[in-house]
Amino acid sequence: MLRIDVISIFPGLFEPFLSESIVGIARRGGPLAVQVHDLRDWTQDRHRSVDDAPYGGGPGMVMKPEPLVAAIEAVAGEKGPERQARVLLLTPQGERLDQARLEGWAAGEHLVLVCGRYEGVDQRVVELAVDEEVSIGDFVLSGGEIPAMVLIEGLARLLPGVLGNPDSAIWESFRGDLLEGPHYTRPPEFRGRAVPAVLRSGDHAAVARWRAEQARETTKRRRPDLWELASGRVGRGEDEK
Ligand code: ADE
Repeated sequence: MLRIDVISIFPGLFEPFLSESIVGIARRGGPLAVQVHDLRDWTQDRHRSVDDAPYGGGPGMVMKPEPLVAAIEAVAGEKGPERQARVLLLTPQGERLDQARLEGWAAGEHLVLVCGRYEGVDQRVVELAVDEEVSIGDFVLSGGEIPAMVLIEGLARLLPGVLGNPDSAIWESFRGDLLEGPHYTRPPEFRGRAVPAVLRSGDHAAVARWRAEQARETTKRRRPDLWELASGRVGRGEDEK
């Protein structure tokens, strides 16, 4: 069972996302429990303020430390060796998300996702209450809510019993450092374009060879950085994936 607590100033953004598709299935009697918390519940002032002007000047606002630290400690406990939860702050300044990180967190028991907003989060929150800062890519969104959903969806499908076909997650992690080649379904010909004959041949070994070749070609062409990594591994005598 993986428990995820989300801390956000826009808890309403999560409602439909958490109810539909694979995430909804994982939550309904499955191995995933998600609770979304409104950061403003931990404010003390009349205006329920969560941000303030930056020291040193400049544009934008910074998320205040008091409500954020109070919220994190309420759902995760105080930072330290006793804490069971892993607390992640979603921010473009974080380390980049990848499948290996998702697999590590999916094997844990309790994650807390803190959604940053405004120009950033007071650094003392990071020091006092956060374990890891995570970015979903080299682009800037207005807040960590969509990135938190990206994590939740990536995690849900890794949990035991969630995917209809358990082979698909294993298959992906076996050959996870290459991109997949093209896929086809019926009809056999569409607007003059035929499905490659090998896929209709019934020759499973030939199909497997074709797919492996397509995966290599797609990866070389589109992601030379990944190809470099993958072929380096093969070259050093590790298992071909
Ligand atoms: N918040 C804003 N942009 C982000 C990004 N790219 N990743 C994670 N959190 C963010």
